[in-house]
Amino acid sequence: MSSHFLFICFMLRCTIIRSKGDSSMELTNKIIAITGGARGLGFAMAERLGKAGARLALLDLNADNLDSAVAKLASSGIDARAFVVNVADEASVTQAFADILDQMGAVSGLVNNAGITKDALLIKAKEGEVQKRMTLDAWKSVIDVNLTGAFLCGREAATQMIEADQEGVIINISSISCAGNMGQSNYSAAKAALNALTVTWAKSWPVTVSVPAAWRLALSIPR
Ligand SMILES: NC(=O)c1ccc[n+]([C@@H]2O[C@H](COP(=O)([O-])OP(=O)(O)OC[C@H]3O[C@@H](n4cnc5c(N)ncnc54)[C@H](O)[C@@H]3O)[C@@H](O)[C@H]2O)c1
Repeated sequence: MSSHFLFICFMLRCTIIRSKGDSSMELTNKIIAITGGARGLGFAMAERLGKAGARLALLDLNADNLDSAVAKLASSGIDARAFVVNVADEASVTQAFADILDQMGAVSGLVNNAGITKDALLIKAKEGEVQKRMTLDAWKSVIDVNLTGAFLCGREAATQMIEADQEGVIINISSISCAGNMGQSNYSAAKAALNALTVTWAKSWPVTVSVPAAWRLALSIPR
């Protein structure tokens, strides 16, 4: 059994949605947006949620992969539409969610899954000589996609849920690296901040409780 499969099963088990007091959510015809949905874990979640009856808005940078993903889901009878977006760009995210609202209706769910890594040691040194340092670009781009992207998409999705007066859920995909991982100053910081963002949102909105699955997974792993 692949680690991806285990991760997804864990995540879906944790996706027990608490909205307006309910302990579960009927997915039939619900519109769920998944960032980074064109491949990998995002696509696997799309298949799983689509089979449970959800209609999917797949958001991704990669237009070709999006087209293939939508075609593959359609061949299984799943209604999915593609939205090309850079989650780190405010105007791009705002436009994508406006397009989703226009073409599909208000979202009931968002999976903030798009993520990247640009691993490097903060400082690589040998015999007292600094050989390499993590670049500002490597730092900023990982924070921008993994953290700011979740903020921007979460803000748009929550706006739609509240304005449509409907129940909803936002799931932020974290990582065990949130506890700190060598060579991942940028990614670990982004995922740890994403966990804090998740708790903050859960405390702020009556309609949404979000679950950072891998974070909980991390907490359950013995040191
Ligand atoms: N794969 C793992 O083992 C693992 C473990 C823990 C956590 N995660 C997390 O799960 C999530 C998905 O991981 P994955 O392995 O499926 O990744 P992946 O690289 O296979 O897929 C990521 C998708 O996100 C898209 N993307 C990247 N930057 C984007 C942007 N700026 N705007 C829109 N889309 C963008 C990519 O085009 C790609 O389709 C990430 O948040 C990752 O941190 C993964």
